[in-house]
Amino acid sequence: MNRLVVTGAAGFIGSNFVRRALAEEPGWHMVALDALTYAGNLENLAGLEESGRFEFVRGDICDEDAVSTVLDEPVWAVVNFAAETHVDRSIHGGAEFVRTNVLGTQVLLEQSRQHGVERYLQVSTDEVYGSLGPAGKFTEESPLVPNSPYSASKAAADLLVRAYHVTYGLPALVTRCSNNYGPYQFPEKVIPLFITNLLEDRPVPLYGDGLNVRDWIHVWDHCDALRLVLKSGQPGAVYNIGGNNELTNLELTRCILHELDKDDSFIRPVRDRPAHDRRYAVDFSKLRSELGWSPRISFAAGLRATVRWYIENESWWRAIKSGEYRRYYERQYGLV
Ligand code: NAD
Ligand code: DAU
Repeated sequence: MNRLVVTGAAGFIGSNFVRRALAEEPGWHMVALDALTYAGNLENLAGLEESGRFEFVRGDICDEDAVSTVLDEPVWAVVNFAAETHVDRSIHGGAEFVRTNVLGTQVLLEQSRQHGVERYLQVSTDEVYGSLGPAGKFTEESPLVPNSPYSASKAAADLLVRAYHVTYGLPALVTRCSNNYGPYQFPEKVIPLFITNLLEDRPVPLYGDGLNVRDWIHVWDHCDALRLVLKSGQPGAVYNIGGNNELTNLELTRCILHELDKDDSFIRPVRDRPAHDRRYAVDFSKLRSELGWSPRISFAAGLRATVRWYIENESWWRAIKSGEYRRYYERQYGLV
């Protein structure tokens, strides 16, 4: 049995990763380490302990003792999803982003080295590459030019991973993926925010001219790529992961409106995000040619299934859209 420590497993991508890995990897036993911040939710992991191959531990990746304790039993791999992840929150204040994303990664790397972990996978983002003009795509050789406190903290973490590989030979890998969507995504991110606002008959706040472009990938395609990189990637390598699915935010909004039988009158143009990256597009030919991966889920089918998931799981998002979330929403959007 391969034992894995999966940090940030109570969040969006981490919980989808654990769920899929339990189904697809019968030889894996996973220990989730998660601090349960505002974005972490034990409901995302409900029922998984019954498998006998999954345990949850509440703990902070910045806490050396907590990390050391979960690594005391021999661990094959550490997969690091734990992070502060929302760009707009990082613009309100970057301190927590530097703490978790940079310091937390350093603690994980150091403890992984001391405990002789065989694989370390850092789940990173295409945002470390900054912003594209109208043409071209990010490759693994593109320079790191992050523009938000969030992306700067992720880029710093990527460089620490590289340094631990070069300096100590830690068998570490980095993946950089484009924008994910799917079940269990916290409704501060654009797709679940717009779906749930529309389900409440409320407007959707579209930043600026709505022509910023993102490359959307279904979270299950991302999780499948991560398992492949973990098992077969070259230690020390970086792998881009993308959806080959560029849409402007306005096109995306209209797809969501269409799914919910709403019209453009629900669009509320609002002040643009500062330093709003204009376009992301990911060249994942390295992952395709080396490991044979390509995304499988079409955007039309993935979005339809996602909308259905939010309709069927209303109690999940209604519980989130209260308390702290309301305060954040008012601060970010005013009264829209
Ligand atoms: P999320 O915000 O939904 O979840 C983050 C999880 O990390 C939460 O469960 C939270 O409780 C936990 N966490 C935060 N700080 C912690 C700490 N100090 N110690 C332990 N746990 C902590 O995030 P997500 O969207 O699932 O993203 C997961 C990872 O994937 C992040 O590293 C992110 O940078 C990366 N990523 C996300 C996307 C995307 O589109 N969402 C794309 C590419 C890469
Ligand atoms: O590219 C990968 C990244 O994707 C991840 O690293 C981040 O963790 C994840 O949050 C995401 O970052 P984005 O900033 O691209 O995602 P977000 O959902 O916040 O915004 C997507 C686009 O939609 C972006 O151009 C801003 C726009 N937007 C967003 C919100 C929240 C709006 O127009 N209105 C909104 O209310």
